[in-house]
Order: sequence, then C-alpha cells, then structure tokens
Amino acid sequence: MTAIPPPMSLLAEVTHRCPLQCPYCSNPLRLDPRTDELSTADWLRVLDEAAAMGVLQVHFSGGEPMARPDLPDLVRHAVSLGLYTNLITSGVLLNAKSLKALTDAGLDHVQLSFQDADTAEAERIGGMAGAQAKKLEAARLIKEDGLPLTLNFVIHRQNAARVPAMLNMAERLGARRVEIAHTQYYGWGLLNRDALLPSRAQLEETEHTVAAARARFGTRLAIDFVTPDYYADQPKPCMGGWGQRFLNIAPTGKVLPCHAAESIPGLTFPTVRESSLQDIWQNAPLFTLYRGTDWMPDPCRSCAFKEQDWGGCRCQALALTGDASATDPVCNQAPGHGVIKQAIANRPAVPPAFRYRRYGNGEITNGT
Ligand code: FES
Repeated sequence: MTAIPPPMSLLAEVTHRCPLQCPYCSNPLRLDPRTDELSTADWLRVLDEAAAMGVLQVHFSGGEPMARPDLPDLVRHAVSLGLYTNLITSGVLLNAKSLKALTDAGLDHVQLSFQDADTAEAERIGGMAGAQAKKLEAARLIKEDGLPLTLNFVIHRQNAARVPAMLNMAERLGARRVEIAHTQYYGWGLLNRDALLPSRAQLEETEHTVAAARARFGTRLAIDFVTPDYYADQPKPCMGGWGQRFLNIAPTGKVLPCHAAESIPGLTFPTVRESSLQDIWQNAPLFTLYRGTDWMPDPCRSCAFKEQDWGGCRCQALALTGDASATDPVCNQAPGHGVIKQAIANRPAVPPAFRYRRYGNGEITNGT
C-alpha cells in the first residue's frame, strides 16, 4: 500500500475551556471537560510523533490555549523539534509575564482574534465584558515583543458594516496580516445561522472594502478573505481535502481530520492514548473514509474540479443533508443545493438572539 504523505499542519486543541462565549465557535457543541484533557506528558509525546512523521507546523489552539499553564513547555518542546509554532488566542489571558514565557520558549507567531472593532459590540458578540481592552493590550505587548501578529475577525451580519474599521484597526495595531473570514455554518455557527448569515448585499460590500484595502495597503498588510460558503458556487476544499494536509487533536486526544468531524455519527474516533499518530494518519478508517476521490458520489465523481475542491466539506454535507458522503450542498450542481437557497431565502429580516457557547444551554457540557 502506498504511504500517504504526512500532514503539513497539526491543530493542537489543548483545551475547550475559554472565557469567551462566541456564538460561532468552531468547537463541537459538546465540549470536552477539563478532567479528560491530555496531560503534559501526553502532549510532549504527541509532538515527538508529529515531528517524526514529517509535520511542519503546530497551531496551539482551543478553546483558549493559554488556559493551560503548561503551554510554554509544549511550545518549547515543539520548537526543539524544529516545528513552526503558532498560537491561536483570544488574548484575554495574555499579559507581559505569560507572553514572555512563550517568547522565551521560542514561539514563532501569534494569531489574535477580535469579535469586532466596536468595543460594546465586540463584547456583546463574545459574551465577555472587558475583553476588548485585554485584547488591545495583548496586541500591544505582542508588537512590542517583535512577534509577527495576525488579527482574525469572524464576519457575519451583525458586524459586517464595520469591516473598514477592522482593517484600520489591524493597520493601527501593526499586524502583518488580517483575516476577514466569514462564519462557517456547522456546529455553533449552524445553531446561530439566522443570527449570523449576511445578506448578499453585505457580502458584496465587504468584497469591495477588502479589494480597496488591498490596493491601499499593498504589501504592508496582507488580507486573507474567506467568503461565506452559502454564497459560493463551488465548495471550498475543506481542510485541503479530508485526511490530506491537516490533522486536529481534540483536548481528550481524539485525532480528527477536521474540527467538526465528531458531528458525523457512527464513526470511531482514534485517540493518541491508544495508537501512534503515524498509524492513525495512515490507517485509521476515519482518515481513509473520505480521503482522495474513490468515495465520491456523482456529480463529484465526474466533476473536473474533484481534485481541487475534494468534494467540499463532509461535515456541512452531513449537517444540511443528513449524509456525510453526499455532495456538499454548497455546490450549485449538488442534488441538495436547494437547502442553501432556502436558508438564504428564509433568512429573517431581524436576527434572532445569539445562543452563546455557554454552560447550561442544554446540549453543552463544559469543563470549566
Ligand atoms: Fe469537517 Fe469540513 S469541517 S470536513
């Protein structure tokens, strides 16, 4: 059997704990409790295995990864193995001391999330009073330290009007890159879709703003723009293809091809507590299930783009059609494309209240 090339990146979701409560959080609806999280020793071994199999980058994420006091130890170990290290953080737990521990450990890059450029709105969306000042201070400290900084804004109908202010904020804070990324609609995002889905007019306005800003900033500030799936004609190559470029490790040690894979029923999720990362990547049925093109139904099977979009997103296919192996309904050739048109047509004029990522929502367990 031909060996599968190693993944380029590992997303290390070291915890699901987070002081923020964003209604579009990419974590699963059922959050992993703190008591089940991998130990420091487990993570150090996983990093050894990742480097040995040829992984190049580790993205420390969560939840809020800075909720784990051993984060500097994990970063130091990853750096010693030659891995590029990126911290994906909300910034609300970052201060001069905790940042120094990370820079001393050799951290390469920080991606800092903001919910909005407007303070009151940012704190309403993130569900945390006082968060914006902490984030602004985090950005200042990161710049002062000389670490490359990327800002991330998740865009939706309730903040799209302030994309120009977000871009100005990124320039003012000295970011090298800014992500203007529309919400993805699975998990929490799907639960809150009516409260988040922008109109086509809002999307077009955002596209114009980004195009003008790219011309204005040139190479001073790179802008990554992510279109909302629902207004795309073709599906995105989710995760660069299932089991091809990325792997996620959940706080409990489950190894996943993407952050939402646990939403697919009937699958067995391998864990680093029981198997090596290399064995899971090469052989676990979860990873071979939708890898490549053999699994594809029509029209994907006969599509000229099948090795570009890799059939789109399996988790979205499941969420919208009930079948993870169906053509991603975002594709305008998909038999299920009507559900996308319907979601846009049924989008309420007034957004409903957010359902926050919060302990006590009924379907959620939270380890904090
Ligand atoms: Fe799971 Fe797209 S999020 S395949």
